[in-house]
Amino acid sequence: MVALGCDQGGYELKLEIVKYLEEKGIEYKDCGTYSPDSVDYPVYARAVVKEILSGSCDKGILICGTGIGISITANRYKGIRAALCSDCFSAEATRQHNDANILAMGGRVVGPGLAVKIVDTFLNTPFSGAERHARRIHMIDNEE
Ligand code: RB5
Repeated sequence: MVALGCDQGGYELKLEIVKYLEEKGIEYKDCGTYSPDSVDYPVYARAVVKEILSGSCDKGILICGTGIGISITANRYKGIRAALCSDCFSAEATRQHNDANILAMGGRVVGPGLAVKIVDTFLNTPFSGAERHARRIHMIDNEE
């Protein structure tokens, strides 16, 4: 299950992502926002984080104007690894190396065609499982 969240800067792009998920038959939970009206992105970042940390969803997609504010917020939470991506190479690498559980994008940065390819790459790339990557991921949340 994929959790979706956005502010007004990501609202239009989220609709494109929803279209893609429905075409592919991928289950999702839309945590809002549900209109182009101005809202505060931390609210939607936290809603998606909650879905992941509770185990209800295994991945999330967050979109604001730049993808920056919403990913900064998500990354405040232990266990969350939100990757801001504007290209497919990064989306693939962050799944393989960082086991990223949230993809963040900028609705004012990437066009819908590229965004859908980034989502497709992110959702379909497994974590490599390599010991060095697992060790580094462990180090993100644990100082010693
Ligand atoms: C909202 O105008 C904008 O600041 C927000 O979408 C995002 O880009 C913040 O990082």
